[in-house]
Amino acid sequence: VTDADGAPAREQIEAMPGVERLSVAAAVAEAQEAAALGLGGVLLFGIPAEKDELGSGAWDQEGAVQLAAGAIKRAVPELLVASDVCLCEYTDHGHCGVLREDGTVDNDATVELIARTAVSHARAGADLLAPSDMMDGRVGAIREALDEEGFTGTPILAYSAKFASAFYGPFRDAAGSTPAFGDRRGYQMDRANGREAVREALLDVQEGADMVMVKPALAYGDLISAVAAATGLPVAAYNVSGEYAMVKAAASAGSIDERAAVLEILTSLRRAGADTIISYHSKDAARWLAEQN
Ligand code: PBG
Ligand code: ZN
Repeated sequence: VTDADGAPAREQIEAMPGVERLSVAAAVAEAQEAAALGLGGVLLFGIPAEKDELGSGAWDQEGAVQLAAGAIKRAVPELLVASDVCLCEYTDHGHCGVLREDGTVDNDATVELIARTAVSHARAGADLLAPSDMMDGRVGAIREALDEEGFTGTPILAYSAKFASAFYGPFRDAAGSTPAFGDRRGYQMDRANGREAVREALLDVQEGADMVMVKPALAYGDLISAVAAATGLPVAAYNVSGEYAMVKAAASAGSIDERAAVLEILTSLRRAGADTIISYHSKDAARWLAEQN
């Protein structure tokens, strides 16, 4: 969702055929469609008119996510509205947090801004807050900030096992959030370390997470199962932008049957133990499943 002045209601994202950047009004229409299709909810991402060093658009009470969350809850109150809580779409350097002079991310300064952002989303009406920044201690800080502001009943979906991955490329194009220098390996996880994923998820549970996430999904089915078993909490699998783009590219080349491939992928994530699946194919899948029944 974008609140940039003069942005079109819908703008095709080149790297993700079938996915669009939306104005607030178009996001409401999209949410109505999602509800009509029986989807469990929507996850909001914001693209601000202006980016700056700290990412101050992230906690702007009149920002795109805040406006969209409020408008969607008014139009379709029964639909769950989740919001991605991070700074990378709002910083001019594209990193998920505040930079020190040496260009590394300052964990604790970032956590404070992440908590402020989460509170602004809750105040706007978001039902579920999903921090994706990967700073240490952010789940506890968000919980404390929410409780202090009276949002004791607003749950947190922690991006617990979020790996540094080649599969986020199309999303970063869409959000203009490719880091201007370096990469995210300082704060995202090492794909070779499965035990760390389970440890991180358990830490998030201790800090007060209500749901945990494994991301990306396709190459991480083992960790969806392991995190589900270790935490006993609802687990979300995020079928990310690069995974979507691969299927779209192969389907448009005529190499695979899109419908069959998507349903096979989604079934495998469910089989691995995902209670919730976040996917850019959600509307298609809902239609296909309805036809099948
Ligand atoms: C922001 C964020 C990202 C994604 C979700 N939240 C990008 C990143 O961490 O680089 C990826 C989503 C996708 O690829 O579909 N931190
Ligand atoms: Zn980020």
